[in-house]
Amino acid sequence: MKVLVSGGAGFIGSTVVSACLDAGLDAVVLDDLSKGRREYVKGRSFYEGSVGDGKVVQRVFEDNPDIDAVIHCAARIVVPESVADPEGYYANNVAQGVEFVRTLERLGCRNLIFSSSASIYDPGPELYVDETSPLAAHSPYARTKMMLEWVLEDCASAGHMNVVSLRYFNPIGCDPAMRTGLQDPNPTHALGKLIEAYENHSSFTVTGVDWPTRDGSGMRDYVHVWDLAQAHVAALTRVRSTSVQHDAINLGTGRGTTVRELVAAFERVVGRPMPVEEAAPRPGDVVGCYTRSDKARLLLGWTSQRSIEDGIRDSLAWTQRRRLVLGA
Ligand SMILES: NC(=O)c1ccc[n+]([C@@H]2O[C@H](COP(=O)([O-])OP(=O)(O)OC[C@H]3O[C@@H](n4cnc5c(N)ncnc54)[C@H](O)[C@@H]3O)[C@@H](O)[C@H]2O)c1
Repeated sequence: MKVLVSGGAGFIGSTVVSACLDAGLDAVVLDDLSKGRREYVKGRSFYEGSVGDGKVVQRVFEDNPDIDAVIHCAARIVVPESVADPEGYYANNVAQGVEFVRTLERLGCRNLIFSSSASIYDPGPELYVDETSPLAAHSPYARTKMMLEWVLEDCASAGHMNVVSLRYFNPIGCDPAMRTGLQDPNPTHALGKLIEAYENHSSFTVTGVDWPTRDGSGMRDYVHVWDLAQAHVAALTRVRSTSVQHDAINLGTGRGTTVRELVAAFERVVGRPMPVEEAAPRPGDVVGCYTRSDKARLLLGWTSQRSIEDGIRDSLAWTQRRRLVLGA
């Protein structure tokens, strides 16, 4: 049995592939390299192409008839970019995603794990959510995740697919073996900006200081990407062994951390204070939320193991390592 990982040359997908290989599972990668890196699939079974291209997907299955499950990580993921280019985001994440599912059904592959996102939640004032909480995606990017999840839920209800949608909270860190990590040297999320400020000896800007949180900054649930990757290995066992129809499962730590608290944790790790400035939220920014759910523990036997400090330390280490691996 093999698993096909779409988007497996990207940050999370490549980490998931490493976790699968470490667990003794065979993995094949399909990625169009729009954001993924060829270096991340070196020595791995790799096909370059889009998930919406039925011919490429068919070739992957002809070459690997033992693929019985797919982890669908491929997507465009930058919120402000999705605000500026909604058509591009719906075309790539939704239209191509639906085409991918149709091809998989045609090829007889019924088991799918989908990279969904906590950004689809509409958190109440308490800011913690479980899988039954109301949904209201607030950016085109988040809506693409919500829409494809709905499509998959309907395909599962029709009896066509077994689907586990994993709703990630805020991934940080990298593969602890330093094989892969964030490929972008200038990530737009808070930890990326903190590392940039630390390296440049400049100030870090908290974007959004009037959110209804304990200190006014956005609320996040920072989960280590290696923990996330382990959850995919567990989800593979579930989707292969049971007729799950559609499970939506939150993947977070269950601890809410504000952006200012992230700064404090960062200062503890690097051992020096970070100068901080304040600014208005960026387009598409949301107050955020954290998970209160036990569903991942109950259905997958999974809980996060690594601390926020582990994630910060690994992200910092990867910043050095990335220059060696990617030369930038
Ligand atoms: N990074 C996060 O904070 C976060 C949070 C929640 C959910 N997610 C989801 O996790 C998944 C992976 O995110 P990531 O952070 O690794 O992003 P990433 O950009 O590093 O990886 C996405 C990969 O998909 C590839 N890709 C994009 N469109 C494609 C297509 N049509 N066909 C084939 N390949 C395509 C890109 O080249 C890239 O390698 C995405 O689905 C994203 O929505 C990410």
